[in-house]
Amino acid sequence: MQVVGVTTQQEIFVASRDRKFEINEILLIEDSERSNPCGEVVETQSFNRYIPLSTEHNAIVDEKVILALKAVGYEIDKEEINLAKLRIIGEISTPVSVGSKVRLPDFGEVSDLLLQVKPQQGLTLGEIRGTGSLFSTMPGELQKVLAMYEGNRVALQKSVPFVFNYKAMNEYPHIGIFGGSGSGKSFGLRVVIEEFMKKPVPGLVLDPHYEMDFSRDFPGLKPEQCYNYRDRFLLFSVGREVGVNFEDLDTGALKGLLGAGEQLTEAMDNAVGVLHSRKDSYTSFNSKIKYMMLALEGTEPEGLAGAERKIYEAMLKIKDRVGHLATVRGIAWRLNNLFHEGLFASNTRPIEDALMAGKTAVLRGPLKLLQIYGAYVFDRLYKKRRDYRDACQKGESGDWFPPFVIYTDEAHSFAMKGDRDTLSKRVIKTIAQEGRKYGVNICLATQRPALLDDTVTAQLNTKIIFRTVRSHDIDVIKEETDLGPEESRRLPYLNSGNAFISSAITGRAIPIRFRCASTVSPHGINPFDELAEYFSDHEQTLWSAVRELLPIEEGGEHIFLPLLEKKLGKNITAQEMFALMEKYVAEGKILKEKALFGNKYLLYNK
Ligand SMILES: Nc1ncnc2c1ncn2[C@@H]1O[C@H](COP(=O)(O)OP(=O)(O)OP(=O)(O)O)[C@@H](O)[C@H]1O
Ligand SMILES: [Mg+2]
Repeated sequence: MQVVGVTTQQEIFVASRDRKFEINEILLIEDSERSNPCGEVVETQSFNRYIPLSTEHNAIVDEKVILALKAVGYEIDKEEINLAKLRIIGEISTPVSVGSKVRLPDFGEVSDLLLQVKPQQGLTLGEIRGTGSLFSTMPGELQKVLAMYEGNRVALQKSVPFVFNYKAMNEYPHIGIFGGSGSGKSFGLRVVIEEFMKKPVPGLVLDPHYEMDFSRDFPGLKPEQCYNYRDRFLLFSVGREVGVNFEDLDTGALKGLLGAGEQLTEAMDNAVGVLHSRKDSYTSFNSKIKYMMLALEGTEPEGLAGAERKIYEAMLKIKDRVGHLATVRGIAWRLNNLFHEGLFASNTRPIEDALMAGKTAVLRGPLKLLQIYGAYVFDRLYKKRRDYRDACQKGESGDWFPPFVIYTDEAHSFAMKGDRDTLSKRVIKTIAQEGRKYGVNICLATQRPALLDDTVTAQLNTKIIFRTVRSHDIDVIKEETDLGPEESRRLPYLNSGNAFISSAITGRAIPIRFRCASTVSPHGINPFDELAEYFSDHEQTLWSAVRELLPIEEGGEHIFLPLLEKKLGKNITAQEMFALMEKYVAEGKILKEKALFGNKYLLYNK
């Protein structure tokens, strides 16, 4: 392999007669004047005499390269020529010498370029593509740090691991995960969360699809490849285990909640401001709303006494400041909706406890409710962390609250580009802009980067880009990352699970394939496999229960039935039990003999 054509400080061409180049592989250029720089293959092509190079319309080579190939002795019309475009990694101040020899490096020669931190110190997300040739020269301890998933099977690691130096997020915070449908975002997000949980870094996951459960091992992994996350995460349903403590709401937060789905009108905003006071419980605020509506209608309720009467009179006094009946009705309707979602029945305490114990809290619920609740919780926990840090800064002692990472899929619906101002957008924007100071990071996945708020996109210092087909989204990616034109051209064709990581932390865009997740989403199983598994499990339980009771005799139902029912935990009739025995006999599992009161069913070896 040798350098041909015109070279620049950034790009060179390498030609070879006998070796095909692999996309993304790293080659070493023997040019000692420039300390033997390395380059990554960003485009490759092979030619033979049947496809004359000079007449082809060609993206990689131009006339100059062809002339250069001829000049160094290639007979381009007669032999096969493999050509690669290399992008130089790192900076060199003068162009590489043409004619320099090029070879595959050993792992040791490029380890600094590929591995910033050891697997134990970072997030082991996958393999670096194009590094297969380095595997054999890599130290043994790096050869078995992850499992891959290829062609529906778990496979061995074959390349250099990609280890993300997450501690550098202190300087370059936040992660964006972009890619079209089925490109591997959710799978990748799962791997990212798993790695953070291993450290452990506390986290908060919004899970509208009920898929972020980490208790089930990925099928096909060997026991030593599995990892037990069961004590690293907790699942919470919004409106059941977790909610909002109404008494904790200040007027701003209440406005935020009421306006989280659809922005409050100016009149509503004003009315909530007049009606709500810091001490209100849900009941007292709700009564105010009720009596304000009556006051505005002008119908005095009969038989009002005591506290109720007082509220009504208070409402009469302030009704002019509140405005119109329709406004208060609108507020009542929204409040009632939140109440019926169960939002005020519990509080955020379980989530706070989970984070303080270093765990990841997974919040579940319908997307709309999660949007509202997620924004409220992000805001609340972010403030807790900020208050603590600010207190430390001032030399005061505040209540400790840990740094944490927020993860969400479908992120564009939380921080949508455009004028619509929602609490979730405001909160995510604030955290995107200032979270770094407080150690609060966000990890946002979306199919539609073009729809994500610009300020938020710009703050995502690490972008993980999967297959993307829409030109709008590709344009945003081109603008917001350091992907070169060659990489951008490849975006629509990436296989699921392959991605580019463009990050201030890695310094250059790195092509990776995500590792096999160590856990699987409950929906990750093929529904037909699930059915087969269910029935085989069910069969297994039944058979082992029966087996322990054998021999079973007709006439002895009163003894066997209750025992079998106890083992199975459900009722069963004598008819069903004997039908089952007949089935086992037909399957050759058990033996049938004549006995005193009818048939006797027993195991073969008894
Ligand atoms: N790292 C990977 N290795 C092997 N296969 C993968 C990998 N990532 C994804 N896949 C395959 O691609 C499929 C789709 O991935 P995933 O569900 O993550 O897509 P997605 O981008 O979240 O799609 P959607 O936007 O529709 O939710 C997975 O079920 C899996 O079969
Ligand atoms: Mg998904």
